[in-house]
Amino acid sequence: MASPVLIFSASVLALFFLLSVHAEVGSSVFSMQSYGAHGDGLQDDTKALGDAWAAACSSEKPAVVLIPKGKKYLTKHITLSGPCKSSIMLMVKGTLLASSERSHWSKETTRHWILFSLVSGLTVTGGGTIDGNGKIWWQNSCKTNSKLPCTQAPTALTFHSCTNLKVENLKVVNSQQIQISVEDCTDVRMSRMSITAPETSPNTDGIHITRSKHVEVTGCTIKTGDDCLSIEDGTENLHVKNIVCGPGHGISIGSLGDHGSEAHVTNVTVDDVRLYGTTNGARIKTWQGGRGYAKNIVFKNMIMDNVWNPIIIDQDYCDSSTPCKQRKSAVEVSDVLFKNIRGTSASEEAIMLHCSSTVPCHGITLENVNLSVKGGSGDAKSTCQNAEWKKSGSVSPQPCSFTS
Ligand SMILES: *[C@@H]1O[C@H](CO)[C@@H](O)[C@H](O)[C@H]1NC(C)=O
Ligand SMILES: *[C@@H]1O[C@H](CO)[C@@H](O)[C@H](O)[C@H]1NC(C)=O
Repeated sequence: MASPVLIFSASVLALFFLLSVHAEVGSSVFSMQSYGAHGDGLQDDTKALGDAWAAACSSEKPAVVLIPKGKKYLTKHITLSGPCKSSIMLMVKGTLLASSERSHWSKETTRHWILFSLVSGLTVTGGGTIDGNGKIWWQNSCKTNSKLPCTQAPTALTFHSCTNLKVENLKVVNSQQIQISVEDCTDVRMSRMSITAPETSPNTDGIHITRSKHVEVTGCTIKTGDDCLSIEDGTENLHVKNIVCGPGHGISIGSLGDHGSEAHVTNVTVDDVRLYGTTNGARIKTWQGGRGYAKNIVFKNMIMDNVWNPIIIDQDYCDSSTPCKQRKSAVEVSDVLFKNIRGTSASEEAIMLHCSSTVPCHGITLENVNLSVKGGSGDAKSTCQNAEWKKSGSVSPQPCSFTS
């Protein structure tokens, strides 16, 4: 017979194990299962998630909202808002599955599937899956079928006005439109994410960042139908490291300055990225007629494999149904470093520096760039307009109108 001491130690161990499985010793755990969720992927569990969140958010102790493993929780649009009384974690072990009934989405809710708003100290993690079930939206997109009217589809995960945010170790798949959007947030760390949607799915940007400061994105694999990362107006101090992209449209800063708007992007570092078969590699795109700047930008240690536009600055970006007119103003692009970039271009034009005639690019540096045409058919070329650039180390192909 085991001694009472042994039994006691064993149960302490078991308890400790249970708590640590739930990650947080000293946290309160609010499982969706305790709030009436079905977890069968068929019945609507939106209310259970909302109720578990509400309880966790008002907990005095750090709280965990648990999405249990091995189950699928069907949810419609939901806003998970703060401020919460303590730090809060959404522990996704199972799957959150979006409803594929378009009638479940009203005009007001079609912009977002899961929206986190005004939460400070939020962590979303757990190794589980966020499944946007986006097929129905892709089929009804005007980009798939030009006869259909262009309408909005939900962003799978939106973080709005969050501070001290961590999003890590998740699988985000088949979003209706943008997969993850970070808006008006400060102090954000995203890591170890796998973000996937088919190459043909329209507008499924991997991670979209706007009006946010001090953001880190590391260790992510992003395969999607649109931009791998889209870095938009108001991004300041963004550090991206160790990312694999493709298929998709690659890494883009912009488009900035649409409809004559003023844009500010500064202090962006994109480091250690591999791109496979993407449309673009390192891209900055701005519309004519905008104002503001994109400056202090570094793209370094990038490997391109069969990328259509490996290095591209396009200040004449136009994505409207009617041609864009010539305009006098432009978002100023300056202090951009492209360093240690090598690999293959799918097109002959491996480097394009197409800057505005009224506000030319300045402070552009190319350092150790070696791009060739995939398959070795002909030399890679480059084109440039209104770009003041210098080189460091060897640069191949060398852009036109060299100034140094
Ligand atoms: C830009 O980022 C670097 C590295 O994180 C930081 O040290 C520097 O202070 C930032 N610059 C500005 C103007 O915020
Ligand atoms: C550029 O890359 C090609 C193909 O990989 C290689 O043969 C060549 O030596 C490289 N040039 C430099 C200067 O590194």
